[in-house]
Amino acid sequence: MTSENMKRRAGEKAVTFIEDKMTIGLGSGTTVNWMLKKLGERVREGLNVTGVSSSVKTEKLARELGIPVIGIDQVDRLDLAVDGADEADRNFTLIKGGGGSLLREKMILELAEMKIIIVDYSKRVDELGKFPVPVEITPFAWEKTTKLVAGTGCRPELRTADGVPFVTDNGNYILDCAFGVGKVNPELHTVLKTMTGVVETGIFTDLADVIVTGSHHDVSIERR
Ligand code: A5P
Repeated sequence: MTSENMKRRAGEKAVTFIEDKMTIGLGSGTTVNWMLKKLGERVREGLNVTGVSSSVKTEKLARELGIPVIGIDQVDRLDLAVDGADEADRNFTLIKGGGGSLLREKMILELAEMKIIIVDYSKRVDELGKFPVPVEITPFAWEKTTKLVAGTGCRPELRTADGVPFVTDNGNYILDCAFGVGKVNPELHTVLKTMTGVVETGIFTDLADVIVTGSHHDVSIERR
């Protein structure tokens, strides 16, 4: 079974948590796209839900699939949110932001009563850090901020797309910061967040209640 099929299993399973009249936080990424496709089917069958999107891409796909989408400032809370991750450890701490949507994803997960993370089993790790931590920074003084971030013990690389800096939906840049396995933890997030040019980090703590993991043979559900 390909990784895409495992993502599909996890994404489709997450839809079983969604009930009529819920307001749902919609994460971003290829695993979430499978969830959206299944949710779109349910909506066409009559399920009444409203989505709040974590990225321009997700909003576009959700609308194409017939899922109604409203802005985050139109809600005070979300019934649940479904999002992917790049790594998830045994404590349910995550690295996110491989697709560059970390700031909005974190805002959405913080608003959700139930936070569901969907991954394929290759993303379940004992210790975080093989995947470089995405750090969203302001374009202003980005080189100075990069030096400050490097001082925390990583090799930050400015993310690019087609030879120019990748720009997030919020108009910012991303540094991909390789700290190494075992070096990524909630304290590191706190240190990085005190830097003025840092907008947000891809270290997500206490933002997963349920992890749905798709594997070769089945799909598992773990609760925190
Ligand atoms: C988007 O910014 C990310 O946080 C994604 O949730 C994460 O990168 C997982 O993406 P895939 O589902 O595409 O692997």
